[in-house]
Amino acid sequence: MKMIKNTLFSQKPVTIGPESGYDNYIMAIESSCDETACAIVKNGREVISNVVASQIKTHAQYGGVIPEIAAREHLEAINVVIDEAFKQADMKPNDITAFAGTVGPGLVGCLLVGLNAAKTLALVHDKPFIGVNHLNAHLCGNYIDTDLKPPYIALLVSGGHTQIIDVKSYSEQKIIGETFDDAVGEAYDKVARLIGLPYPGGPVLDKLAREGNPFAFKLPEAKVDGYNFSFSGLKTAVLRLVKSFNGKELPINDICASFQECVSSTLFKKVKKALLESGYNQVVIAGGVAANSEIRKKIFSLENEGYKVNAPAMKYCTDNAAMVASCAYFNTNTFDDVDVEVFSRA
Ligand code: KG4
Ligand code: ZN
Repeated sequence: MKMIKNTLFSQKPVTIGPESGYDNYIMAIESSCDETACAIVKNGREVISNVVASQIKTHAQYGGVIPEIAAREHLEAINVVIDEAFKQADMKPNDITAFAGTVGPGLVGCLLVGLNAAKTLALVHDKPFIGVNHLNAHLCGNYIDTDLKPPYIALLVSGGHTQIIDVKSYSEQKIIGETFDDAVGEAYDKVARLIGLPYPGGPVLDKLAREGNPFAFKLPEAKVDGYNFSFSGLKTAVLRLVKSFNGKELPINDICASFQECVSSTLFKKVKKALLESGYNQVVIAGGVAANSEIRKKIFSLENEGYKVNAPAMKYCTDNAAMVASCAYFNTNTFDDVDVEVFSRA
């Protein structure tokens, strides 16, 4: 599938994508939450440079992301990460085929910083601009360093979303299941806070879970139709479990392991159902929670049943700009108008 982009000033048609007939170098910017990131990716799969400035240290003292502070830190970091991405790649703006930026969903003040930087680069250097949906970008993290091609089933698990997606082609995808309440990452972060773990809770909880007994406590799996999910009941069950200790020392590792077992087996069952019903032989995981050890282990066990399984390398699971560049290249439901506005919710 071909895509023609017109640059704003010269109005010169530019073809982006696998059928353009020449090498595409896309520079992308990501700033939807607490990472300021810039990357240059060749032909959607080969990372030339990848720079991420994380704000975790800043937000850790508040126990979560403070949107106004995050936006201000993006402003401070944005030019630095762009310069560094050019430097690492040993490239100049004129070597870039198109500039891309995340449009949403995310924190509006944060998105504005990265999106305006990407638009400005495109305008100043008279190159095409491509706006990218953050969720689609997470999926495209799977194209980096692989030869993965649709169709496949995708499990997207992040701080804000939990979805099962039928990816029919690069540009055609259907959300076939999602959460009715908390996202998986959100459930991880809330449970982590409940048991006194530091922010960001997900990775810490994952680490402690590996030291615990996953069958120490039986936690409830929500019975939800189809490919949908619900995690708020599980969170309440953990709260009740914590209270039952009446202030006595908590068996933290066992609680973490039991929670992780419950979440990962719920996700596994729904993914398997989607694979069986779609008839596809490929599955991918994506989003920040795709870095989770037990979720990866369970989904990768599908390889023993003959399925092809892919997950991005850890650094392309959490927020980064390489996945945004890949998404722009493969035309995964992009917004190609420089007037596109940021949006907060999917
Ligand atoms: O995709 P992401 O970087 O940002 C969003 O778009 O939301 O995902 C961040 C989420 C956070 O909730 C974080 O706690 C969770 O991913 N996360 C993990 C792990 N690493 C990151 N959750 C569980 N286990 C992990 N290893
Ligand atoms: Zn994300």
